[in-house]
Amino acid sequence: MTTGPVNRSLTVLGIETSCDETAAAIVRRDTDGKGTILANVVRTQLNLHASYGGVVPEIAARAHVEVLDAAIIKALADARLDWTAIDAVAATAGPGLIGGLIVGVTTGKAIALARGVPFIAVNHLEAHALTPGLTHGLGFPYLLLLVSGGHTQLLIVKDVGSYVRLGTTLDDALGEAFDKAAKLLGLGYPGGPAVEKEAARGTPSVPLPRPMHGRREPHFSLAGLKTALRHEAMARAPLSEEAVADLCASFQEAAADVVSDRTKRAMEIYVETMGADAQRTLVVAGGVAANQRLRAVLAKTAEDNSFALILPPLDLCTDNAAMVAWAGAERLARGLVDDLAAPARARWPLDPDAPPALGAGVKA
Ligand code: KG4
Ligand code: ZN
Repeated sequence: MTTGPVNRSLTVLGIETSCDETAAAIVRRDTDGKGTILANVVRTQLNLHASYGGVVPEIAARAHVEVLDAAIIKALADARLDWTAIDAVAATAGPGLIGGLIVGVTTGKAIALARGVPFIAVNHLEAHALTPGLTHGLGFPYLLLLVSGGHTQLLIVKDVGSYVRLGTTLDDALGEAFDKAAKLLGLGYPGGPAVEKEAARGTPSVPLPRPMHGRREPHFSLAGLKTALRHEAMARAPLSEEAVADLCASFQEAAADVVSDRTKRAMEIYVETMGADAQRTLVVAGGVAANQRLRAVLAKTAEDNSFALILPPLDLCTDNAAMVAWAGAERLARGLVDDLAAPARARWPLDPDAPPALGAGVKA
């Protein structure tokens, strides 16, 4: 639905419930396109899921219902605003766990209806993708590496609503691979920080594969890496503390190597697609962007390929509602709003025209 561009300062309430964070935030977008976070409330459900070693969808949905209202009220209080200040409500409508999405979308629609303001159904991936506009005032286009527990994608962000997916994962997401590695080594959940901590004490001495390394299309495949890790762990059982540290260091190094190689290839395609004069900036988002080794390797990859590197602050790299409010404000400013029939969608690709990643096995 298009209403025509809106040329005034916009204050948007954002709601995020697609996975295991219940979040509400308020962001203002000024007419010059600059964004300001007025409130950013995140209630994590980590402790509810930890004993299961992963997110349990039914538990997540129920927990969103229980805490979302309070999170929204707190966001208004933190921003020192009342309802009359809210110009629109934006809620993550997908992709993600459908139960949680329905909670957020229904709440958002109810507020929009009651207040008589527009509702915006936000794509969670778009919210991650547009974050550097909020945090760094970054203009388009740029290359985005999104690495979280649910997503592993390389995208050209051309403009709001205009994305070219260059690469995706054929199987596990990168964060998921870290979580599975941690689980099989008996470390805690979420696995990424646990693996990184162990890796710091070890040396990357265990030979592990670099799946998809050197392939022409910048796709990922991470399931094989996890299986190779399992074999190496079994061969060393019972595992000493030192062996666990070395396995973690080796896994992290392999993951960083693969991400660097795939990102380098995406940089080449970006320059071919956008032209040599296009802005050369790599943005990294998603929870795995917290990994210090990955950050160091990507900083070098960016430098070697004459790209600037932007890492949004960690609390805006991981799931949050400020990015949802900002994506909503960016859409509203361009007259892009939704009606109250907009559905929650478990699957919602940012680039519906991207060719399927299967058959990506052609060597460069
Ligand atoms: O973006 P995020 O908070 O949630 C979504 O998945 O949407 O990402 C969480 C993922 C988990 O898989 C977690 O293990 C991973 O990010 N992660 C890390 C690190 N911190 C979080 N992976 C590697 N190293 C880390 N330091
Ligand atoms: Zn996310």
